[in-house]
Amino acid sequence: MKILLYITVNSKPEKLSVSKTVGRQFVNRFITKNPDYVVEELDLYTEYIPEINHVIFKKRAEPVSGAEYEALSEDDKKAVDRVNELCDQFLRADTYVIAAPMWSVSYPSILKRYIDCIILNNRVIKVSPEEVTGLLDDKERNMIYIQSSGGKYPKLLSGKFNHGVDYFEDTFKFLGVKRFEKILVEGVDMPDIGREKAITKACLDIENVIAKLS
Ligand SMILES: Cc1cc2nc3c(=O)[nH]c(=O)nc-3n(C[C@H](O)[C@H](O)[C@H](O)COP(=O)(O)O)c2cc1C
Repeated sequence: MKILLYITVNSKPEKLSVSKTVGRQFVNRFITKNPDYVVEELDLYTEYIPEINHVIFKKRAEPVSGAEYEALSEDDKKAVDRVNELCDQFLRADTYVIAAPMWSVSYPSILKRYIDCIILNNRVIKVSPEEVTGLLDDKERNMIYIQSSGGKYPKLLSGKFNHGVDYFEDTFKFLGVKRFEKILVEGVDMPDIGREKAITKACLDIENVIAKLS
């Protein structure tokens, strides 16, 4: 079976969260169309996502191991174990669905903390003195980034505001993810659009994206 890793980035319960509501709809439709998939869920607000520091990472993108690991405190060992576990989970998956709100023209900081945990040397990247290369081209991987935003940003200005989406597209394509798709749920906090209309429009986009992926 293939794995869809569904990553949510919101402390709100699903029924109150626009990004999680659209994310769930996407995952349900995707699974109906792709019965060879199972879903693993990762809620960044309830799961333990360690903060990287110089004690648990001595080199770029490398959690300590061997004797250095043995010398760590129990809490730091727990952090290193969790970083490795998160990276394993990420590598096992074939399709990633990230549902996040736009915060300050980017995304909530817990999502960046997670990314710093999983982009590990010799597993997701290969770091040499000359260059960094991506290792995620070992199989066909897809990423779908679902972003809800209070405002609506015209296409021409999209690049000036959708930094979160652009970061994921640029970074993960560079790392080797074959296909990247986005679903923008825009105007959630605007009086002339609002939550319900924004969700309805996004649900149409879901069908288009799933058709493109199959
Ligand atoms: C801390 C914070 C920062 C926000 N920054 C932006 C922003 O820069 N641009 C924008 O359009 N909306 C912004 N919003 C509005 C949210 O994007 C919007 O309410 C959210 O996408 C709704 O989705 P949710 O129900 O899943 O949280 C912000 C909201 C919060 C709480």
